[in-house]
Amino acid sequence: MTKQDPYRPLFHFTPPFGWMNDPNGLVYHRGEFHLCYQYHPMDTVWGPMHWGHAVSRDLLSWEHLPIALAPDAAGMCFSGTATADAANRTGLVGPEGGLLAYYTIAAEKSEGDRDFPQSQGLAYSIDGGRRWQRYAGNPVLPNPGLQDFRDPKVFWHEPSQHWIMVVTLGQKVGIYRSADGLDWRFCSEFGEGEGAHDHLAWECPDLFEIPVAGSDESRWILIVGIQRQAYVPGSGTQYFVGRFDGERFVNDNTADTVLWLDYGRDYYASQTWADVPAEDGRRLVLGWMSCWPYANQTPTANWRSAMSLPQTLTLKATDQGLRLHRAFVAELEAFERPERVLACGEVGAGELLAADWPEAARLQLALELAEGSELRISPTGEADFILFRRDGRLGLRSRRRGRIGVAEFDEHYPHDYELDLGAPRPLSLDLLLDRCSAELLLDDGRYGMTQLLFGDSPRRCRLAVERGSLVLEQGHWLGLSRSA
Ligand code: FRU
Repeated sequence: MTKQDPYRPLFHFTPPFGWMNDPNGLVYHRGEFHLCYQYHPMDTVWGPMHWGHAVSRDLLSWEHLPIALAPDAAGMCFSGTATADAANRTGLVGPEGGLLAYYTIAAEKSEGDRDFPQSQGLAYSIDGGRRWQRYAGNPVLPNPGLQDFRDPKVFWHEPSQHWIMVVTLGQKVGIYRSADGLDWRFCSEFGEGEGAHDHLAWECPDLFEIPVAGSDESRWILIVGIQRQAYVPGSGTQYFVGRFDGERFVNDNTADTVLWLDYGRDYYASQTWADVPAEDGRRLVLGWMSCWPYANQTPTANWRSAMSLPQTLTLKATDQGLRLHRAFVAELEAFERPERVLACGEVGAGELLAADWPEAARLQLALELAEGSELRISPTGEADFILFRRDGRLGLRSRRRGRIGVAEFDEHYPHDYELDLGAPRPLSLDLLLDRCSAELLLDDGRYGMTQLLFGDSPRRCRLAVERGSLVLEQGHWLGLSRSA
């Protein structure tokens, strides 16, 4: 298995075979986390979109289920959302309640169409998501005359006693509401001149309320995908922090503030799980670990694309304002194996701190870098993260090589860029490695960098101080394994 399929991750969700992109319909229902996804089961490149489907109880061990939605006469099934209708407000799921899935119907193109004509559809399930029935009145929300009208996120808004739908309207999002989930009324739009834009539509919005850590306040977060000009050219995920009154989202920050959920190349179309029970209380998020400019060319076998590791989101006050912070889900701890503790104290240039760790592993460090120093983490021989302190600032450089002889991949996949981390301070670092990815969370998860890696085999990995010196306050490696 490993030999023919060296990149199939051990801990990241992948489709059994075929092509996958965005996570869809993330919902917790009757003890299970549901994960649907944009799926082309007949090929390893994007094609007629289905909703693939899997369930898990721990967010890390997934059971594949039959396809939830397949294209029909109305068209393909693009991205969307799922949510419980426990009180049968739609009248579709009966007194026991059930699940609703809102998705974009992408119809066949006619002459002159630049994109697939899009409208919003509804399907529902009364058996825990095993079988889905299309709503007879589809489309539940017809297209108001836009080329890009897709990726509905729907949730129940208790204060206004309405369902809310956030959906892409070109380079904006539209907010609609409905008392019964069937009859939708336009309320407002958000996005003109706000945050980052490129020449293409925003995609995959998400909107949710989140507490401000350590206070009695809360804010609303609006997440949207940028297709081609994110922090680094390619696909990426930005967010806005603001208020929502049931009809309108108002940005707390100035319109030109751009906040990125991830600074890597491979974190897109992220969505959060709906209906996570209050006693759990987490806001859980998942992203598609790829990037449109080379997504169809990545060098995997009979499957293509993995999801990020599920993470929790928290909103914390920082010197720059409220910022989302991410952490890997605690469920991972059940798979962590004996750690290798690194010696603490001052470490000088040329010192190798660790090498040759397992193919799925977690590195956790707390450190302080001296001026002029560099710590290099190479998860493979073809990529590295370099944490540095230069001219009184901390920074992170990400370099990735690797060519496979396929033009789109070779042109867009390699990179070399930096991220400014601000004034020097002690930093925490949490790095999760799997067979084709590195997810780096820095500074208590305030900065995240998710990168695909298609490196050498066997891996040449190392952690070394390249220049200057640092003080290691704490450090260890954990192997991640599914066997006891
Ligand atoms: C985002 C996206 C969505 C669309 C889906 C189609 O990656 O382009 O906007 O619904 O993928 O697969």
